[in-house]
Amino acid sequence: LASIEVDISAIAEGQSITAKWRGKPVFIRNRTAAEIEAAKSVPLGDLKDPLARNANLADGADASDLNRSAPDKENFLVMVGVCTHLGCIPLGQQGDFGGWFCPCHGSHYDTAGRIRIGPAPENLHIPTFSFVSDTKLKIG
Ligand code: FES
Repeated sequence: LASIEVDISAIAEGQSITAKWRGKPVFIRNRTAAEIEAAKSVPLGDLKDPLARNANLADGADASDLNRSAPDKENFLVMVGVCTHLGCIPLGQQGDFGGWFCPCHGSHYDTAGRIRIGPAPENLHIPTFSFVSDTKLKIG
């Protein structure tokens, strides 16, 4: 399927689900206030990959938390769950930055899905998506 619709109404704060889109996992996480704050407090100069990697934005957009999170719903992160190193599936709420950890070769992503330590070259990619309603997300 080119696009899918996902019901996000049951994702409590601090929880995430994994949808499947075009054969790939897509992480949908409802972040806590502390997770959002942690992501926002990171100076852009500290980021290994300065780009948003967000298919919904222009190519050169920076990797600020605003450009990584869902529009008007900053608590939601929607990302392709494939490590940008060699394609393993990172584990959620793990690693040194409380975001995702890829156990294959030790890449740590933060609570905005940005690579912070490890061999992965890029932030986790954000697919094209939009909200069909407050509880329904369309991916693709
Ligand atoms: Fe994730 Fe290598 S595939 S760190």
